[in-house]
Amino acid sequence: MHVPPVNRAGPLAAYRALLAAGALTADDSQGFAAERLQDLWTKLRGYDPPLRAPAFSLSRLLRLRPTEGAPEDHAGGLYLVGEVGRGKSMLMDLFFQHADVVRKRRIHFHAFMQEVHARIHAWKAANPDGADPIPPLADSIALEAALLCFDEFQVNDITDALLLGRLFTLLFDRGVVVVATSNTLPDNLFRGRPGRDAFLPFIALLKQRLDVLVLDGATDYRRRRLGGLQAWHVPANASAERALDAAFTAFANGAAAGPRTLRVMGRRFAVPLAAGCVARFDFAALCGQPLGPGDYLALATHFEALVLDGVPRLSPDNFDEARRFMTLIDALYEHRVKLVASADAAPDALYRSGEGAQAFERTSSRLAEMQSRKYLELAHLT
Ligand SMILES: Nc1ncnc2c1ncn2[C@@H]1O[C@H](COP(=O)(O)OP(=O)(O)OP(=O)(O)O)[C@@H](O)[C@H]1O
Ligand SMILES: [Mg+2]
Repeated sequence: MHVPPVNRAGPLAAYRALLAAGALTADDSQGFAAERLQDLWTKLRGYDPPLRAPAFSLSRLLRLRPTEGAPEDHAGGLYLVGEVGRGKSMLMDLFFQHADVVRKRRIHFHAFMQEVHARIHAWKAANPDGADPIPPLADSIALEAALLCFDEFQVNDITDALLLGRLFTLLFDRGVVVVATSNTLPDNLFRGRPGRDAFLPFIALLKQRLDVLVLDGATDYRRRRLGGLQAWHVPANASAERALDAAFTAFANGAAAGPRTLRVMGRRFAVPLAAGCVARFDFAALCGQPLGPGDYLALATHFEALVLDGVPRLSPDNFDEARRFMTLIDALYEHRVKLVASADAAPDALYRSGEGAQAFERTSSRLAEMQSRKYLELAHLT
């Protein structure tokens, strides 16, 4: 009997390897999604649709229509949908990491929309004749990526809703394949909002071009992993250190630990200890050195969780450390990074009085929120 060879590459094998290593728990709906992602992975091997000629170029005049590579219905990609913590982002990231496509891009949908608005704005400033900015925008996005992976796809306002319909039509025309994660089924996008009727063709387009996969497992893995997690430990003694060790291990999810280097604007930023999506620092190493917002931002986008040892009491006497700590917390908060720390005092008693105490109030309020179950269950914003 002929047994087809097992494909050792691709997201399915990677998913199975994580199961075998005990890093993931078996989950039928994830297994099914991993198979669909593998199918798409196979279709896309070496996918490199010919580039569409930019407007007014010679090849355009010669009527070059280089989009024959555009896939058929439902081959335009996948839409992974489900409740929080079901593993959508984890699976999409496995797919993205292994996708054998040279021009590929993974971006948080919110960041993508901000970029789209900025590019339209810049284009309009350079072309004040009132020409339509969407086709050249689609050209440039398609030029950068034949595979676009969007985390946390959602539509919040009518301007975006209408813009997306036109933009996605042109992107699909140009052969761009889309994989997205979302908490909302296409049919429920923008539901109950004024102007939704005008958005319906976009929903139809999404359903026509993307295979909708529902991850309907019963387990919220994020909640399960964080069950019983205590985020702030006072005082910073040996028992706090053990609790921080345990938090680090839980976040590491079986990944190997070691030092790591991030690149920040051409510089190197050394992370003394990291494993998977978690980093660990001593307060002195992270806030006692001349690091700036760019470094903290890099940390916040790279890591889903930060374990921080030994936050001291802060005052005008160590204001540089305090200021860096405030910048760090802002970056972590904005990217919903989970913070587990040991400290000499509770957040609202860390910086009691003196110059800077008032500025610290926002930090202590954020720190309080960052200990809440609700915050800990939010997805990381990359
Ligand atoms: N089968 C599994 N076993 C163990 N941990 C898992 C499993 N699936 C996912 N996880 C972990 O659970 C956490 C949540 O998963 P993930 O972020 O992918 O969820 P999500 O569906 O994208 O949630 P959200 O809708 O909030 O973005 C991640 O840390 C992930 O690594
Ligand atoms: Mg997610």
